Amino acid sequence: MGYNTWNCFGGEINETLIQTTADLMVDLGLAKAGYKYLVVDDAWSNPQRGPKSDLQANSQRFPSGMAKLAEHIHSKGLKFGMYSDAGGLTCMGYPGSRGHEEQDAESFASWGVDYLKYDNCFAPASDWVVDRYMAMRDALNKTGRPILYSLCDWGVGDPWLWAPKVGNSWRTTGDIANNWDAMLRCLDNTVGLSRFAGPGGWNDPDMLEVGNGQLTYNEERAHFALWALLKSPLLIGADLRTLSKSALSVLTAAEVIAANQDPLGVAGDLIWKEGPIEVYAGPLQGGDRAVVLFNRHVDGTQYPHSNITGRQAQAMAQAQAEITSTESLELVRCLLRVSINQVAYMRGPFGDKSFKCVDMHGMQLQMLLP
Ligand code: DGJ
Repeated sequence: MGYNTWNCFGGEINETLIQTTADLMVDLGLAKAGYKYLVVDDAWSNPQRGPKSDLQANSQRFPSGMAKLAEHIHSKGLKFGMYSDAGGLTCMGYPGSRGHEEQDAESFASWGVDYLKYDNCFAPASDWVVDRYMAMRDALNKTGRPILYSLCDWGVGDPWLWAPKVGNSWRTTGDIANNWDAMLRCLDNTVGLSRFAGPGGWNDPDMLEVGNGQLTYNEERAHFALWALLKSPLLIGADLRTLSKSALSVLTAAEVIAANQDPLGVAGDLIWKEGPIEVYAGPLQGGDRAVVLFNRHVDGTQYPHSNITGRQAQAMAQAQAEITSTESLELVRCLLRVSINQVAYMRGPFGDKSFKCVDMHGMQLQMLLP
């Protein structure tokens, strides 16, 4: 759980913004809710390497340097994340780490970096993507500093097939954008991949758009609950200086965060679908099961990318087989009213009378069959 600058600011970042964001992560209660990493994405460096071929902080926008910034972030009890690229240049044209893996990993470690997001722009087609990602993994390990390694090859090369041995998370999709359709695309691209995730390595359907002004309250809640159930990294991508109260309440919904961070560490997946109505579920520690009931219907139009095929159908069959008949009964008994683009979130041991059907704030939802 953490924060990343890209969704909201793109390349318009600087040290004052990052320091303020660190302060706000604490002041708004986000750090307390579990958000620990503050990640500076693309455009933090000078356009050229330094005299010793070393990566250098952008002298205009980060004049005090990255080590100083790390000090501030650490002083707030947060962890510091940075960004580089497995090709010759980052996507925005700044120097990438290909061929400089050890040197750059040493720079990151010496600055106090705790997390590295590693992108995949400007790589020659002749290179094998896995080799480039393994080179940085080995370089990071060699520094001796624990650094979370977040792979960002956008799902193009089916990273879930190799990334669990290489990094701690891997993107399953191209970039999210600030709209409902993009959120659904990222969701659909991640369905069926739950079996590749587990402690130490997670599917990453990209960062959150909650708080960026284009999704309705219901849509933000749906986005957040679905990401939580998939055990996606929860990376906030909004401007904390102007974050609305309602977006903050979504991002700090304790019960949803608890499902995402559940110690059992088993990712949920789509288990049932009929038209626009979908059920996502996954086991939690102690026998509980987290269930998200999702109504993605909009104005009578069914989204075209909701067709279930191939690996998605396979995953659904597998997940369905795990739900016992008592559990299915319980799902039916817990019949809820779920509005368009809304999710209901359920938690509790199936078959137990104390089974709760709640919204993201722990409010009892209207049960149609009590
Ligand atoms: C592509 C990635 O998918 C984005 O998340 C972001 O890191 C940009 N590159 C930065 O250029």
